[in-house]
Amino acid sequence: MAGPCELKRQRRSWAEPYKIKVVEPLKMTSRSQRERAMVEAGFNTFLLNSEDVYIDLLTDSGTSAMSDRQWAGMMMGDEAYAGSRNFHCLDKAVKDFYGYRHLIPTHQGRGAEHILSQLVIKPGDVVPGNMYFTTTRFHQEHAGGRFVDIIIDEAHDPTAAHPFKGNIDLEKLRRVIDEHGAEKIPYVCLHTTVNMGGGQPVSMANIREVSGICREHGIRIFLDATRAVENAYFIKTREPGYENRSVAEILHETCSYTDGCTMSGKKDCLVNIGGFLAVNDDGIADAARNMCVVYEGLHTYGGMAGRDMQAMAIGIEESVESDHVRARIGQVEYLGEQLMEAGVPVMRPIGGHGVFVDAAAFLPHVPADQFRAQALAAALYVDSGVRAMERGAVSAGRDLDTGENRIPKLELVRLTIPRRVYTQAHMDVTAESIIDLWQKRSQVRGLKFTYEPDQLRFFRARFEPVGADKVLDDGCGCAASQSEACAASRVS
Ligand code: F0G
Repeated sequence: MAGPCELKRQRRSWAEPYKIKVVEPLKMTSRSQRERAMVEAGFNTFLLNSEDVYIDLLTDSGTSAMSDRQWAGMMMGDEAYAGSRNFHCLDKAVKDFYGYRHLIPTHQGRGAEHILSQLVIKPGDVVPGNMYFTTTRFHQEHAGGRFVDIIIDEAHDPTAAHPFKGNIDLEKLRRVIDEHGAEKIPYVCLHTTVNMGGGQPVSMANIREVSGICREHGIRIFLDATRAVENAYFIKTREPGYENRSVAEILHETCSYTDGCTMSGKKDCLVNIGGFLAVNDDGIADAARNMCVVYEGLHTYGGMAGRDMQAMAIGIEESVESDHVRARIGQVEYLGEQLMEAGVPVMRPIGGHGVFVDAAAFLPHVPADQFRAQALAAALYVDSGVRAMERGAVSAGRDLDTGENRIPKLELVRLTIPRRVYTQAHMDVTAESIIDLWQKRSQVRGLKFTYEPDQLRFFRARFEPVGADKVLDDGCGCAASQSEACAASRVS
């Protein structure tokens, strides 16, 4: 056990490198209000109104707090249709920090995924990658390709302690090349960090080796750079030889092994909207600009306002500051460690953008086809107003050939931490609620679909509890007055 002096030292190493200038009040809700809201939302946290949420850990996407410099940048928006000054600032920031030659701005990450997939994937192609991401795989399949998972086996085991669980398995990569031939592989899709695997990083050694294999076979690599800054921080802190390199240098080196990237600026880049495609190849850049003008907006704004591009340019600079990344990942670890100490099963090691609770281990009494992570996320909201996200069977969707539900090995509830938004006390309240739920886990019920959309079903699906009217039946909701008192003691 660390003594008080030691704890103080640890805290000082990652306390927030900012102070709060503006606050947004949060609404407190009672248990019975939340039970009603959950029913109205069809037991899907995506369908809740955010004003009914106390601590919103649905996503780290577009939820960051911008700095005073970024807000000042917003006032410098040059809202010209073409050739805005802010485009040039963003272009420079992407070149300086990511190192690619051409920038094609897009409204967000999936806009870039759409353009890239349509340009380079042909029907019948195969796209190997280190675990799927929902929108990325959708666009790959929509263009006629098929995603093949080549992440290391440890990534699918929530308890494996590998420091770089996002790594690509080089043997699996070689096998896919042997089986399909390099001409059927338009590119390898490299995620840094791996969102669906718990925000786990990829090592520089692995990136270098994957790049070597791809070069040997004339296959391109495109990076999903959405959280590449966080990945760079893990390389700095975990990979020998990088401890004295800056996050910015590591980011630059990461990108140097790849041919381009798709980017959701809504994460690392510390903005509420925006994204880009960045590539080195002149031909791809030209074709991408043509697609950009059709689907996104002129190639010098791509769906963003001038002010959005300015905020992103400044956000990119701020994102690589080591104090920022250390505090950001330190806060995620702080929550994760509280849960681990209480014995709650979580994905290990703790990832970059959130703590991923292992819903399969949390709810062993709920059958796999009753969407354990969806049920646990719903129960957490009812318990304390904390909104999390399912990352398991609902997100995995149905198999393209059989139409059966895919049952992924990882059935996770993601507690995603927005950047620079919540305090340690918010983390404490979240941990208390989850630990409380862990103690009464047998009272959480499974769910079944009442509505299942065709595409990316997790966003809009609706459910109902199996064999009960409540997803969490712990006796608190029996009388309204009692329930309000109970909620008040927990939340306020
Ligand atoms: N790639 C990764 C790794 C992502 O996490 C996301 C979005 C995207 C691409 C798509 O970007 O949303 O800007 O279109 N992830 C969000 C999340 C939605 O909550 O994890 P987008």
